[in-house]
Amino acid sequence: MGSMRLLAAVLALLVSTVTPAHADPRIVGGVVVDDAEEAPWMVALTTPQGHQFCGGALVGPHEVATAAHCVHGRLPGSIVAVGGRLDLRTGGGSTSLVAAFRLVEGYTAPSSGKDIAVLTLSEPMPYRPLPIAASTAYMGGSVGAVYGWGRQAEHDTNKSPLLHKAHLPIVPDEQCAATYPQFDAGSMFCAGYPGGEIDACTDDSGGPFVIDGRLAGIVSWGTGCARPNMPGVYTRVATYLR
Ligand code: ARG
Repeated sequence: MGSMRLLAAVLALLVSTVTPAHADPRIVGGVVVDDAEEAPWMVALTTPQGHQFCGGALVGPHEVATAAHCVHGRLPGSIVAVGGRLDLRTGGGSTSLVAAFRLVEGYTAPSSGKDIAVLTLSEPMPYRPLPIAASTAYMGGSVGAVYGWGRQAEHDTNKSPLLHKAHLPIVPDEQCAATYPQFDAGSMFCAGYPGGEIDACTDDSGGPFVIDGRLAGIVSWGTGCARPNMPGVYTRVATYLR
């Protein structure tokens, strides 16, 4: 069972390395997550009306890690966290209002770093939280998975109500710095393929980038979505949480 999974993962990796092309229309170029056990810690952030605007990950029974830009300027009580629900059209799982959130002092905008927030939920959620990655997890070429309910293409306003994910390799810091002048390796890392095609996109913000079952990144910013040589930029979570 374990070795079959490993084999499947290795095959998937090989296939995606060789042909990141043929975009399946989810996240951008990803696949639907249909096993709730795979991402029990995944959280959707919605308005009280149920409009999903960001992702997040449970990091404790009533703590959710997300992007600062997802919550900055909103009132905590106007954010609803939804856990245990892969298909947002359903009423499954559990919901909680956000009681409060913490930002990193001095946060201004995603491209200036510090794009992380920890939300405190009014009600704890009964799902397994995601442990935090070590600061050594950010090796160029390491593959992680990003999860979200965001756009399926840069210019697509359709979103899937189904959680989707995509596997992406970490881009070496020097390479990302050459792409984005604002890149700061202390607070960010990049992930993506040179040819683009697979990426996070609008409304995936705040969602987790998971390496070896640990929270390594948070969807933060990028130029467009899935463009060639324009990787996605993620918050370097190990700088802020442990
Ligand atoms: N800022 C976007 C959001 O609010 C996410 C950007 C991620 N972009 C990317 N190309 N990876 O949802």
